[in-house]
Amino acid sequence: MRIPKELVEDMLARAFLRGGALRKEDRQKALELTALLEELTRALPPLQAKRAPKTPVVVVDACSGKSAAGMLLLALADPEARARVVAIESDHARLAHAREGARALGVHDRVELRAGTVADAALWPEAPDLVVALHACGEACDAVIDRAISCSAKRILLVPCCYGAAATRTHDGLATHVPAQGNADRWAKTVGLPRHALVQRRFAQAIIDAERTLRLEAAGYQTEVVELMPPTVTPFGLLWRAKRVGEPVRTAEAAAAYAVMRSG
Ligand SMILES: C[S@@+](CC[C@H](N)C(=O)[O-])C[C@H]1O[C@@H](n2cnc3c(N)ncnc32)[C@H](O)[C@@H]1O
Repeated sequence: MRIPKELVEDMLARAFLRGGALRKEDRQKALELTALLEELTRALPPLQAKRAPKTPVVVVDACSGKSAAGMLLLALADPEARARVVAIESDHARLAHAREGARALGVHDRVELRAGTVADAALWPEAPDLVVALHACGEACDAVIDRAISCSAKRILLVPCCYGAAATRTHDGLATHVPAQGNADRWAKTVGLPRHALVQRRFAQAIIDAERTLRLEAAGYQTEVVELMPPTVTPFGLLWRAKRVGEPVRTAEAAAAYAVMRSG
């Protein structure tokens, strides 16, 4: 389903800027959200009319911030109100913005805002149709992967951000740790990687990306990694599309590769 960027911009202004003018970063966000909304509508069961499922479609917006992704999905792509969004976010100020935004867009009765960390299994619904995490920071992205797997999410759309240990600080200032960073540091020494920061960073990102991909595949998810946004828009533009298929051969092969990686 194609949703025009101008419509996304209008909705962002209405939800979060009280109709005020969009800044450059809001327009960039609108670009990302436009591309992501297309992915979301493609990944979900049809929400319109006769082909829509009888039971509500459940979408988890993890590390939701103001929950723009979840809310715009409801406002722009769910005219029959078939879907509901569970937004999980640890920052109370952002949750307050999300609450106001949901009211402004008239979707508040279909958005459930849950305050806390994505690592808390109690905040996750069982077997959601889709988990989306746009720019989930550092270790939070890993927690989203683990929780989405353990609650048997049918599909996952993941756009990670801030990989490096220095960048992975939560809004309350706590340093966090991406699990595969340890492997990357060890292997950088083993292969004699030069100390140049940009080279080290790219190497670590590749290892972290590989570990996350294998983790999903080893849990039975068929996974694709594509560019949602070019680096001219954001340095963190990769999208993981994962669909739970449980294909035994593929899963076993990924599990074997994942075990090798983890032991390294
Ligand atoms: C870069 S923002 C992205 C927000 C939103 N998804 C978006 O794209 O606009 C990352 C969000 O994740 C939240 N966050 C970070 N760690 C978290 C955790 N462990 N549990 C829940 N939320 C977390 C932050 O408070 C922040 O709102």
